[in-house]
Amino acid sequence: MSETQTAVKGIEYQAGLEGIVAARSSISFVNGEKGVLEYRGINIRDLAENSNFEETTYLLLHNHLPNQRELAQFTTLMAKQRVLPHSVREAIHEFPVGMHPMVALQAGITMLAGEDYFTDEIGSQRNNIRRSVALIAKVPAILAAFERNRNGEEPMPAISKYSHSENFLFMMTGERPHPLAVKIFDKLLIMHADHSMNASTFACRVIASTLGNLYSSVSGAVGALSGPLHGGANERVLRMLYSIGSPENVEKFVDEMISTGNKIMGIGHRIYKVKDPRAELLQAMIPQLLKIKGGEEWQMLYKTALKLEEVVTEKLSQKRLYPNVDFYSGIVLEILGIPVDLFTTVFAMSRVVGWCAHWVEQVTNNRIYRPSQEYIGDHNRLYISIEKR
Ligand code: COA
Repeated sequence: MSETQTAVKGIEYQAGLEGIVAARSSISFVNGEKGVLEYRGINIRDLAENSNFEETTYLLLHNHLPNQRELAQFTTLMAKQRVLPHSVREAIHEFPVGMHPMVALQAGITMLAGEDYFTDEIGSQRNNIRRSVALIAKVPAILAAFERNRNGEEPMPAISKYSHSENFLFMMTGERPHPLAVKIFDKLLIMHADHSMNASTFACRVIASTLGNLYSSVSGAVGALSGPLHGGANERVLRMLYSIGSPENVEKFVDEMISTGNKIMGIGHRIYKVKDPRAELLQAMIPQLLKIKGGEEWQMLYKTALKLEEVVTEKLSQKRLYPNVDFYSGIVLEILGIPVDLFTTVFAMSRVVGWCAHWVEQVTNNRIYRPSQEYIGDHNRLYISIEKR
């Protein structure tokens, strides 16, 4: 018979902790019935339209929009922090070229801990935020260095007058990106920066609750994000769309997936029971991008995605399954020229802001996470010596 150990009265086991309130947070808010996402109370549609990544990062970390002076100082601080320590650059140089970029990112972030003299110190809120900014600023540099190294190219140094987004695209390719590509990439980063108590954020907060340092907490979160049911879905969406090939094949594909009980990537969400607002925003970017980077292949990819959305929402309407953030982000990243296996790292490059904000919030008002379990094993079994088994 199963037995719950030290459970709070009235709280039963919930698979996947569904509906369990695991933290009090003022960072982001999601209403899954209405399709609303807010950062610090500001609607994501407003931020995607009017803000930029640096400003949104400031908002998430400081809980208010910066004035002009604060934003200028913050942007300068980020620019100064983009340089990777020598040890991290050298380590990336030695990473196997076949390493998955998410693993490389996890390793790179962990290595940064070795360069922070006060790694394990949980400082004042001000210091915790400064340390967070230094980490957020370095993530694109780690990824770009890894990408160039595996292509046999030297890393590109960041350019201080470029924004966070422009620098990433520049450091990867060595070429100044098209202004519209920068704008769209920046909006994509804004949209991925936080999303309440998702699996990777929870992982980050669990490590933070042990007073584990920022780097351990964030690299743990990168590991959680890498799975196909979380951030790894965007990469798989693109591969899936290419394998479907064209809109005519969509119906057959969906029928097969339903009959074999397989999940269609980029579809469904634990919280959203309507279309994810970020999927709507990302979808709207695709026609804009196609104008500057037209290509038959991408047109076909987009048409296939539109058909897939139509067929899925019709055939699985009773389950309330709609495109999530990963459904259209893969197409945007593909058109922007980001290699497919870097897609989830781009998600991480943005979500690191949320993880840092949650780390700061957790250590500021901490109690270690220690949930209960329902024990379903045996009791009072006899130990039998090895000769008699
Ligand atoms: N394709 C087909 N059916 C799906 C589905 C999908 N992508 N997502 C959920 N379903 C079905 C389930 O089979 C289940 O059906 P049932 O009630 O007949 O058993 C029902 O919808 C509920 O799904 P469940 O897996 O319990 O939902 P969840 O809240 O545990 O999982 C996700 C949420 C996001 C993990 C899940 O929808 C999924 O795996 N999606 C694909 C991966 C993905 O895009 N991840 C990115 C998330 S942002």
